[in-house]
Amino acid sequence: MYSLVVENIKCIIAAGGLGTRLQEFRGNKSTKILLDVNGTPMINRQISQLVNWGMRKFVIITNPEYFNMIQEVTLGEFKDLNIEFTIQEEPKGISHALYQARDYVDENEKIFFVLGDNFFENSPFNNFDFKNFHEGACIFTTEVENPEEFGVAEMDIDGKVLSIEEKPTNPKSNDAVVGLYMFDNSVFNKIDTLEPSARGEYEITDLCNIFVSENKCMNLNINGWWIDAGTPERIIELEDKLS
Ligand code: G1P
Repeated sequence: MYSLVVENIKCIIAAGGLGTRLQEFRGNKSTKILLDVNGTPMINRQISQLVNWGMRKFVIITNPEYFNMIQEVTLGEFKDLNIEFTIQEEPKGISHALYQARDYVDENEKIFFVLGDNFFENSPFNNFDFKNFHEGACIFTTEVENPEEFGVAEMDIDGKVLSIEEKPTNPKSNDAVVGLYMFDNSVFNKIDTLEPSARGEYEITDLCNIFVSENKCMNLNINGWWIDAGTPERIIELEDKLS
């Protein structure tokens, strides 16, 4: 039953960010997604994580410069997986990255969108019933001490999502939105309606807020540790947790 449902999910990995905070870390001159984490390129660790969660069909969004290298590294390791690739020509934000995968998703498929540098102790699907997800969006949150560094969700007493704010100065809660999103197929039309934010990017938070305004955004609390491995300190922390 489980594998049948997962068949209808296309897993899209955002792997285009250059990771400016990781330039020169251990001599890194390329993209963070190719950085070694305990001896394995981050992108391959990510794919392994997702395969363990039951994902089988992938689209990887890369930047133009590292398209070939990312293709080589992943296809060299995962010969039997269905992996496709698409390019985000300009760094215009996470929603814009997702938009580049629009031609790779079938009408009957749901989208599981993953930020490539996010790693987790446990599968978020331990508590997620795919059978109950028909339409809309699902965000995944966890309580943190530094919510101002992330997207922050405000929920009402019944757990309904009221709003999501991107790196707010005065967070309304401690519930950080982790880099996992489930969407139905309407997501691409919604991205079409987005305006760039003040920093000139098509924000993932603005996209999720469209689903919130339609009352179609659910939230799931994840268990266990979560690391957004976007800084040298967090890569070292991740290596610690994995070893
Ligand atoms: C991005 C999202 C943010 C989310 C975070 C999770 O931020 O914009 O909403 O909470 O990923 O890792 P970034 O890490 O790109 O600053």
